[in-house]
Amino acid sequence: MKPREIRPEIYCVGAIDWDRRLFDGLIPLPDGTSYNSYLIKGSQKTALIDTVDPTKEEVLVDHLMQLGVEKIDYMVAHHAEQDHSGAIPCVLDLYPEAKVICTPKCKGMLIDLLLIPEEKFISVEDKETISLGGKTLEFIHAPWVHWPETMLTYLREERILFPCDFFGSHIATTDLYTTDEGQVYEAAKRYFAEIMMPFRANIEKNLEKIKDYAIDLIAPSHGPMHNKPEFILKAYHSWVFDEPKNIVVLPFVSMHGSTREMVAYFVEALTQRGVTVKQFDLTVTDIGKLAMALVDAATIVIGTPTVLAGPHPNVAYATFLANALRPKLKFASIIGSYGWGGRTVEQLAGMIPNLKVEILEPVLVKGFPREANFKALDNLAETIAQKHKEANLG
Ligand code: FEO
Repeated sequence: MKPREIRPEIYCVGAIDWDRRLFDGLIPLPDGTSYNSYLIKGSQKTALIDTVDPTKEEVLVDHLMQLGVEKIDYMVAHHAEQDHSGAIPCVLDLYPEAKVICTPKCKGMLIDLLLIPEEKFISVEDKETISLGGKTLEFIHAPWVHWPETMLTYLREERILFPCDFFGSHIATTDLYTTDEGQVYEAAKRYFAEIMMPFRANIEKNLEKIKDYAIDLIAPSHGPMHNKPEFILKAYHSWVFDEPKNIVVLPFVSMHGSTREMVAYFVEALTQRGVTVKQFDLTVTDIGKLAMALVDAATIVIGTPTVLAGPHPNVAYATFLANALRPKLKFASIIGSYGWGGRTVEQLAGMIPNLKVEILEPVLVKGFPREANFKALDNLAETIAQKHKEANLG
């Protein structure tokens, strides 16, 4: 593919990764991803905004060759994670005079992670600017989107914000800009859930920080660019600031059918009371879908059988993840079964210290559920519906 010009002397030079299906050995990528890199030529200097994952560095180099780039003065490294920084050493080999521009913290991390020599860096303070000649780059420190060293760049004359991971989405597409808003909304929400949600308080501050910038285009380092910035800004505002909704997320595993029976009954009981339920069988679910559901949910109810005196390992994994993602949940409970005993409730309750939730009376059943157990599930469903109503959750 050829590099594409998005504004006079501003080019997309990154790479599309159609086939990648897992990120960080953890996050499913059903739609692949892209590593966006941008070349900005001023009348005097040339800057490269982020690079690409090292597996795609030949694509970046080919784009630079196609454009006949003889000199790069600055490489802006918004973020030290290797999917954006990993090709910096390769670009430095080709353009040894280039300086890496980043936050002081990012400098230390790039030295540690990529062994880049210290003399290659220019570290910049918050709101510092550099002129390329007719094009001014303003660097905006934005820590914890999603590592501590992150920053954004605002190109003043063109009113373009380059936010790296912030506002990104894992989508492989030839579209430069968001065309299918439904698809991009879903992918961006998945991205927010998995990457940004644990840092919601910092995201809030950074959204505040950029709100007075006039932005015509948001050009993230994953997925399509947003030429209608209000689309993605509005979505982020809702994910960060809105109250959770009248939704129960129900991740579960069943080994011999008891927990499944309880889940089926409980979903119906909640539905009858006007509560939306999102049910996930953890033996087959895409964990990204579960993360996405947690963005809006008010309640999590974990369904598990008892294995070796505790929760099923897949349930323990999902609970660990939910705790790490720090969603806006207000209530939590546990349903499930056991054969002869165990400490499932204590163990699961001890795994969610980050969730500021009220724990509602769990329903644990010995063997297969009976009349009294279904009654207890009705009571739990009633309690949740009431709690949601009292909290005015829409
Ligand atoms: Fe796209 Fe945090 O790297």
